[in-house]
Amino acid sequence: MSGRVLITMDDLEVGVPVNAALEEAGLTTAMVSSFDDLRAAVRRAEPEVVVFTGALHERPARELAALARERDAARLALLEPGAQDPGRLVHALGLSAWLVKPMAPAEVASAVQRLIERRRLQERTGILGDSPAIHEVLVKIEQMAPVSSTVLVEGESGTGKELVAQAMHSLSARRERPFIAVNCAALPESLLESELFGHEKGSFTGAAERRLGRFELANGGTLFLDEVGEMPHSVQVKLLRVLETRSFFRVGGTQPIHVDVRVIAATNRPLKEAAAGGRFREDLYFRLNVLAIYLPPLRERPSDISILVRRFVRELSQLHGREFRGISAEAMEMLMGAPWPGNVRQLRNLIESMVVLAPGREIGPADIPPEIRDGRLRFLPAPLPESRREIAGQELEFIFRSLVELKLQIEELRRRLDDHGPSVEVIDLGRAPARGMPPGGPVLSVPGDRDQDDDRSVVYRPGMTMAQVEKFTIAAALEATKGNRRRAAEQLGIGERTLYRKIKEFGLN
Ligand SMILES: Nc1ncnc2c1ncn2[C@@H]1O[C@H](COP(=O)(O)OP(=O)(O)OP(=O)(O)O)[C@@H](O)[C@H]1O
Ligand SMILES: [Mg+2]
Repeated sequence: MSGRVLITMDDLEVGVPVNAALEEAGLTTAMVSSFDDLRAAVRRAEPEVVVFTGALHERPARELAALARERDAARLALLEPGAQDPGRLVHALGLSAWLVKPMAPAEVASAVQRLIERRRLQERTGILGDSPAIHEVLVKIEQMAPVSSTVLVEGESGTGKELVAQAMHSLSARRERPFIAVNCAALPESLLESELFGHEKGSFTGAAERRLGRFELANGGTLFLDEVGEMPHSVQVKLLRVLETRSFFRVGGTQPIHVDVRVIAATNRPLKEAAAGGRFREDLYFRLNVLAIYLPPLRERPSDISILVRRFVRELSQLHGREFRGISAEAMEMLMGAPWPGNVRQLRNLIESMVVLAPGREIGPADIPPEIRDGRLRFLPAPLPESRREIAGQELEFIFRSLVELKLQIEELRRRLDDHGPSVEVIDLGRAPARGMPPGGPVLSVPGDRDQDDDRSVVYRPGMTMAQVEKFTIAAALEATKGNRRRAAEQLGIGERTLYRKIKEFGLN
């Protein structure tokens, strides 16, 4: 295997044999020590992996690690057996892997090779991250890609399920054939069925031509069934049949169609529970779940955040033609502490907005939106014991989403009110009554001409029903607008048709 490695040479006793083993393994090596120009060395060597053999001073070690990270080179350290607090070192250098001395140089060479392979796999698939969870996902993708068994990809929204499905397709022998995605939640039952299986001419009203379904179009390739948990029961039955027999009928068709399609299904809600609760066919669940990949939420793998942020800043500033140096350490820390309910997608979107909006050449703490900066969203799932995590996580997620939704609704309401102004406001107590209304009680006023207050006053007296209040309010609005129904409807904040209906209902015409 070829590959480029930069190796530190402050400890020659370790460095020299490791270097020999790396060369033996076919890798191209370059050497660097504490007193060299590190930046120049990294630029020259273009390493895919930097190996820290030890004895490097702390400052140059950090600098070299930062330079390696900038270029997405993996970082492998050989630690002393009694190394104090290896965790601190791992964190400080952002290590991708480490080995404890003494180790055979050949062992180092094979670890380096594995890192190079993984790095290349990440480049090919676009799946970034250094967390053990992402490593596991990558290993699974590699193992599962060559076979045609069905895969179920589970994970919260924005965790990269589609990215995983695409990676699996592009690493398989099917890569030259189509990858077709269908969102099962986006279409009503009848349309979904014909979307998946196609239909014959005249099979239903509007079916003017024969149409091929996604299963046929994906023949030889991969079909990605997104949000499979939302699939209606009738379609679930048909999908089960295709998975069992590899054949199906077009809607209105009588000839079985045979296809060779690999199905990858995704869901952001645990399908097992849906199956247990009867919302999803259990037999189909088992059919889909032959192989499974779980993508943990980003908040459970914060070590991936810095890699993702760096890459997104680079990619998106290039896309938008902005010259960005990167992100400050303080800003990065804020991002790493946020809970990311929308996972990688939310992180990417935020970086995009910051790249476009941030005034400087570096993203700083002031560019980070307050809800993330102040950690206001931090009440989201704290780590819980394994057994309770699934349920509590979902409950908290549900509560969180409800709160977010509520907040959005309130904002929307507020915006509407700001746009239109209040249609009815309480301006006074005990004002003169409108015609035909008994005196006393609070007065409601419909906004209109200020100098005609008395004509527009509506009195509320305890005991009055809502319908009565409504009736008199409408009457007052009509008076205020001199019978102009369009303006009255506008002022009341209701549709003109509704106003007409109510006028009729209350006998106001
Ligand atoms: N590990 C990762 N590395 C790089 N980019 C990622 C990673 N995970 C997700 N992304 C990016 O985040 C975005 C969302 O990913 P994707 O669409 O695959 O998520 P999803 O799980 O299918 O979400 P949903 O359930 O909402 O459909 C995409 O832009 C994707 O490229
Ligand atoms: Mg998706």
